[in-house]
Amino acid sequence: MPQTVRGVIARAKGAPVTVENIVIPDPGPGEAVVDISACGVCHTDLHYREGGINDEFPFLLGHEAAGVVESVGEGVTDVAPGDFVVLNWRAVCGSCRACRRGRPWYCFDTHNAKQKMTLEDGTELSPALGIGAFADKTLVAAGQCTKVDPTASPAAVGLLGCGVMAGLGAAINTGNVQRGDSVAVIGCGGVGSAAIAGARLANAAKIIAIDLDDRKLELAKTLGATHTINAGSGDVVEAIQALTDGNGADVVIDAVGRPETWKQAFYGRDLAGTVVLVGVPTPEMQLEIPLLDVFGRGGSLKSSWYGDCLPSRDFPMLVDLYQQGRLDLDAFVTETIGIDDVEAAFDKMHAGEVLRSVVEL
Ligand SMILES: NC(=O)c1ccc[n+]([C@@H]2O[C@H](COP(=O)([O-])OP(=O)(O)OC[C@H]3O[C@@H](n4cnc5c(N)ncnc54)[C@H](O)[C@@H]3O)[C@@H](O)[C@H]2O)c1
Ligand SMILES: [Zn+2]
Ligand SMILES: [Zn+2]
Repeated sequence: MPQTVRGVIARAKGAPVTVENIVIPDPGPGEAVVDISACGVCHTDLHYREGGINDEFPFLLGHEAAGVVESVGEGVTDVAPGDFVVLNWRAVCGSCRACRRGRPWYCFDTHNAKQKMTLEDGTELSPALGIGAFADKTLVAAGQCTKVDPTASPAAVGLLGCGVMAGLGAAINTGNVQRGDSVAVIGCGGVGSAAIAGARLANAAKIIAIDLDDRKLELAKTLGATHTINAGSGDVVEAIQALTDGNGADVVIDAVGRPETWKQAFYGRDLAGTVVLVGVPTPEMQLEIPLLDVFGRGGSLKSSWYGDCLPSRDFPMLVDLYQQGRLDLDAFVTETIGIDDVEAAFDKMHAGEVLRSVVEL
């Protein structure tokens, strides 16, 4: 029987979100219905509301979530009702050319549920990133559910579903930070702070946090930053060099995603070092740089989609590290809020007051 539950809907470009009744179909083949426990508020949800992703309104927002599988459709074997799962927005297909080459984190054909959730009048909803988890329950492809330790806090581990995984993975997967490396992270919001935590997990020796906001820099110190630079108070590249014997950092992670921050990353890195772009640029942004500098400095220039994560490999491992006290995911949960407070959480995000507000359901 289809079920009616509450969900946070963005009906039109720029309009405040509303809490409405939504209809969740029974899971079809390869699908699962998940009873959501907690879901973080991410910048991408706001981008959807502002029409910055596409025009397929109305959206069911929310995508950084953990919950309990309620029911599964035909042919689902990897998860079962009662499993505690973290949701992901890249359920790999296993058969595209990236998957066949053994690089499933680049999968070009990721899965979502085939059936649509709707409003009560039958209007089809577009779930944010194929998830839609600011809701009591949601319908996803079973591959979007990754089983993790059920005793972990849902508010904390749900964040692995997007921004925190992107940041951790930018450091440990894409940047391949090694023991003893120097790492600089530009932009210390949820994503950049997670990159700092990832650099610490990988035993980087020097971790330089860079932001315009001193509040973010203070928080970065608690997550592992050994040095901080306020980007508003001088030349960022010179400041990175001054902290690295004049050389630049082995790995520089741009968690802002603007031409000026990427250039700081490019020039703030040591010869043959690595630049990782994890912040997402907008379509009008352009970059001009002497090609000879690209050649002459060697090394690698990478971008990081979802931290190049493989949910089935990374989520359970990171939850275990969290449970052992080696990865402080609680530090990313600035506040827990109710389903009616998403709009207020967008304001706090804008004001830079939070790493993450998390809706508890
Ligand atoms: N690659 C991915 O898969 C992925 C996944 C999730 C989010 N993201 C992207 O990562 C980026 C960061 O997300 P977030 O949730 O951390 O956002 P956020 O708004 O919480 O954090 C951004 C931080 O950057 C700082 N900042 C802004 N301009 C700066 C500058 N010029 N120099 C230094 N610091 C500056 C801000 O003060 C803020 O602390 C966004 O672009 C987001 O879309 C990427
Ligand atoms: Zn694939
Ligand atoms: Zn997100």
